[in-house]
Amino acid sequence: MSLYRNSAWFVKGVTEFTRNAFVASSKRFVEKDLEVSVAGRAFMITGANSGIGKATAMAIAKKGGTIHMVCRNKDKAEEARADIVKETGNKEVFVHILDLSETRKVWEFAEAFKRKYKALNVLINNAGSIMSQRDVNAEGLEKSFATNVLGLYILTKSLIPLLEKSADPRVITVSSGGMLVQKLRIGNLQSDRGRYDGTMVYAQHKRQQVVMTEQFAKAHANIHFSVMHPGWVDTPAVANAMPDFHRSMRESLRSPEQGADTVVWLAVSEAAATNPSGRFYQDRRMVSTHLPLAWTHSSALEEQKLMSLLDDLAKTFQPH
Ligand SMILES: NC(=O)c1ccc[n+]([C@@H]2O[C@H](COP(=O)([O-])OP(=O)(O)OC[C@H]3O[C@@H](n4cnc5c(N)ncnc54)[C@H](OP(=O)(O)O)[C@@H]3O)[C@@H](O)[C@H]2O)c1
Repeated sequence: MSLYRNSAWFVKGVTEFTRNAFVASSKRFVEKDLEVSVAGRAFMITGANSGIGKATAMAIAKKGGTIHMVCRNKDKAEEARADIVKETGNKEVFVHILDLSETRKVWEFAEAFKRKYKALNVLINNAGSIMSQRDVNAEGLEKSFATNVLGLYILTKSLIPLLEKSADPRVITVSSGGMLVQKLRIGNLQSDRGRYDGTMVYAQHKRQQVVMTEQFAKAHANIHFSVMHPGWVDTPAVANAMPDFHRSMRESLRSPEQGADTVVWLAVSEAAATNPSGRFYQDRRMVSTHLPLAWTHSSALEEQKLMSLLDDLAKTFQPH
C-alpha cells in the first residue's frame, strides 16, 4: 500500500498538512516569536540548496545568522548561496560539500568541521531522500538508510561536543507525518528483506528520526532537540518521488517558506526553547507522534536498541 492511500493518514493530511491548514494555523502564531536577531549564531543546515532547507537558510540569513549549507551538489549549492547572499545581504553563508549517503565521509566532514570552527549553535538535519529502488553505498549500506538515518546519526553525534560548547544549542530534524503510519522496526535496517517500497522505507526512516530525537534528548540534557513535520510542501523531492500525489495535490501543497516556518521557529525563537526537549512539532505546536488508537507504539527497549545498533554501525566506519 502506498503511503498516501492510508486513509486515516490521508484524512489527517487533508485537514492538517495542506496550504489551507497552514493558513488556518498561522492565525494563532505569535509574530514576535520570529522578530529576533541571530547575528553571531551559527546554523548548519543540510540539504540547504533546495525546498524547505533553502527557505530555512534564507529566513535565518535574513535574521543575521551565520549559515553553513551542507549540500551534495556544488553547482546547486553555489547557486543557492548566491541567491541567499543577494536577497539577504548576509555574506556569512558558507557552502560545504557532503553526500550524506557516504558514511565514512560524514564522519570525516563532521570531525573536520569540529576542528575548524569554534562554535555551532544550531544543527538542522533537513536533507532527506526517497529512493525508487534499493541501492547500496560504498560501505554496503542501503543508501536511503545511510542518508536519512545513519548519516544524520553520525553528523549529530560527532557535532554534539561542539554544540555543547556553544550558547543555547539546538538540533532540529525535519521528519515527516509519513512516519505516523510506521511502527519502529529495527530488524530490517538495511531493507534487504521483502519487497522494497521506497516510500514506506522512507516513512520508516522518518519514524527512526523521531525515536533518535527522543533518545538524543534524554542523553544530552543541555542541548534542545526537536523534530517536526513541515506539512505537504511543493518541492523537487515530492515532485520526483511521488509524481501522482504531486499532480493531484498540487493546488493544496504548501510553499517551501510555509514548510520551513516551524523549522525557523524551532531554530530561532525563545518560545521554542522553553518547551521540553525531544518533542515532535507541526505548525509551531507539540503534537503526538502517533495517530489515535494507532498500533505504532514501540517499547523503550526497542528504542534504546535502535540507538545501540546505530552506534555500533557508526563506530565501524569511524576514522581513527
Ligand atoms: N516536501 C514535503 O512535502 C515534505 C513532507 C515531509 C517531510 N519532508 C522532508 O523535508 C526535507 C527537505 O525536503 P524537501 O521537500 O525540501 O525536498 P528538496 O527540495 O528536494 O530538498 C531535499 C534536499 O536534501 C538534499 N539531499 C538529498 N539526499 C542527500 C544526500 N545524500 N546528501 C546530501 N544532501 C542530500 C537534496 O540535495 P539535491 O538538491 O542535490 O538533491 C536537497 O537539498 C526532507 O527531509 C524531507 O523528507 C518534506
